[in-house]
Amino acid sequence: MKPISMEFVMGRAPVIPVLAIDPEVDAVGLARALVSGGLPVLEVTLRTPAALAAVEAMAKAVPEAVVGVGTVVRADQAQAALDAGAQFLVSPGTTDSVLQAAEQTKLALLPGISSASELMRAGEAGYTHLKFFPAQSSGGVDALRAFNGPFPQVRFCPTGGISLQNYLAYLALPNVLCVGGSWVAPTDAVASGDWARISGLAASVSGVRLNAHNAPATDNSATDWHSVAGEEDPGSADEDLRPKR
Ligand code: 3PG
Repeated sequence: MKPISMEFVMGRAPVIPVLAIDPEVDAVGLARALVSGGLPVLEVTLRTPAALAAVEAMAKAVPEAVVGVGTVVRADQAQAALDAGAQFLVSPGTTDSVLQAAEQTKLALLPGISSASELMRAGEAGYTHLKFFPAQSSGGVDALRAFNGPFPQVRFCPTGGISLQNYLAYLALPNVLCVGGSWVAPTDAVASGDWARISGLAASVSGVRLNAHNAPATDNSATDWHSVAGEEDPGSADEDLRPKR
């Protein structure tokens, strides 16, 4: 599969669900629920033993999803993610070994930073699209606004402490393309397979309107901005594809 860029990934949807998938969870059902709610970009974290199997199943069964692997903290995990079918990588930090391993896979990497020095280090390695983590406890919206002064070229996906209550404040910032978070797939809803609740939550943040069967309505207002996996990467760094609110 042709590698996609991080600006392409970050432009697909305003929210990237951050998922920790336990072995008993129907990963494909979860992916379908999120995609039908208008959130096609999925980050499956390497925090459970079932993570890579979940990525493989989702990538095969839900081609509209853009499935990535998160919590990449060791070099060997990058190749494992590629082998499982991941299309992008996310790390909470920025280490030489993870950067090198990601480069070898040719997968787009979203490296994590929480300070100006870390941001500059990532910039020296060629990264302009960064995860701001842990966002809320590292200064939140105010910190990102401050970063935009000296580093106006950098685009962020803040994660960590983002919620239904504060995500719009982050998305309103000029240097934020999307946010990540676990709140769109609450643990209890995932465990009980409550896909209707998860689709509904996803739709409430993506702008997709669902019909009675949880499939996107045909007159879906989000189709004018929401693209799907497999589409050619337009290379449109920083193009704002978010729904107009
Ligand atoms: C991440 O890995 O991006 C975060 O742990 C997600 O944080 P949240 O659970 O606060 O959304």
